[in-house]
Amino acid sequence: MRKPFMAGNWKMNGSISHVKEFIDGFSVSEEVVKTREIVICAPFTLLSLCSEYGAGRKPYIRFGAQNVYFEPKGAFTGEISVAMLKEAGCYCCIIGHSERRQYFGETDATVNKKMNALLDGGVLPVVCVGETLEERESGRTEAVVSGQVKGSVIASAGTKDLAGIVVAYEPVWAIGTGKTATSAQAEEVCSMIRGLLNEALGETVGNGIRILYGGSMNPANVDELMAQPNIDGGLVGGASMKPADFARIASYVE
Ligand code: 13P
Repeated sequence: MRKPFMAGNWKMNGSISHVKEFIDGFSVSEEVVKTREIVICAPFTLLSLCSEYGAGRKPYIRFGAQNVYFEPKGAFTGEISVAMLKEAGCYCCIIGHSERRQYFGETDATVNKKMNALLDGGVLPVVCVGETLEERESGRTEAVVSGQVKGSVIASAGTKDLAGIVVAYEPVWAIGTGKTATSAQAEEVCSMIRGLLNEALGETVGNGIRILYGGSMNPANVDELMAQPNIDGGLVGGASMKPADFARIASYVE
């Protein structure tokens, strides 16, 4: 059984006061706490506060970063290492988000190096993939997404233990647009990703990898998306800033 992974990505949003308001205002049932992983990926500068403020109040919320650098230390001005994330209390780290691929030149090769560094350092990688609208409309969704999965993740088959990593399918055209993929569209791609993972890593590892959907996930569409067999969680942008909305998403009804 894959434990559902319900993650918020605050992107470049939030503040010290927002962390406190969010943690104070977030509330889910004990059953949800027991059966699902709940994660917030906050900006670097808020991560220590998240861990410290959350620990005594909502210890079941885990925290993650939204990017990392693959070198362990040194003259890389402006970058953050895996060890630094660990020290700030990070459980996981998003890598290869489409916004990083689009605006900051992230490639499958750099995402793969980051995944390897996270695995070596004991921080769970959440590897993002997804096609643009133009790629979808020209019938290239499968080629694009499978290329990303192979280049970012499967490239490490045989050299890294990939059991337990998380992959997030986020169609770029559904991010921040209010335009969600239908549950059938999302399931089609997530199931294709599952097939690739099973083929490359074997079914024991492949079937244990959680595949998330991201792109305008909200309290109104989460139940249907989570009902799909190959969608094991969500990566939620806008709606994860509001504690009540994110609590409802994490408490999706089966
Ligand atoms: P939205 O939920 O705001 O569409 O963002 C999705 C996303 O990019 C999460 O990583």
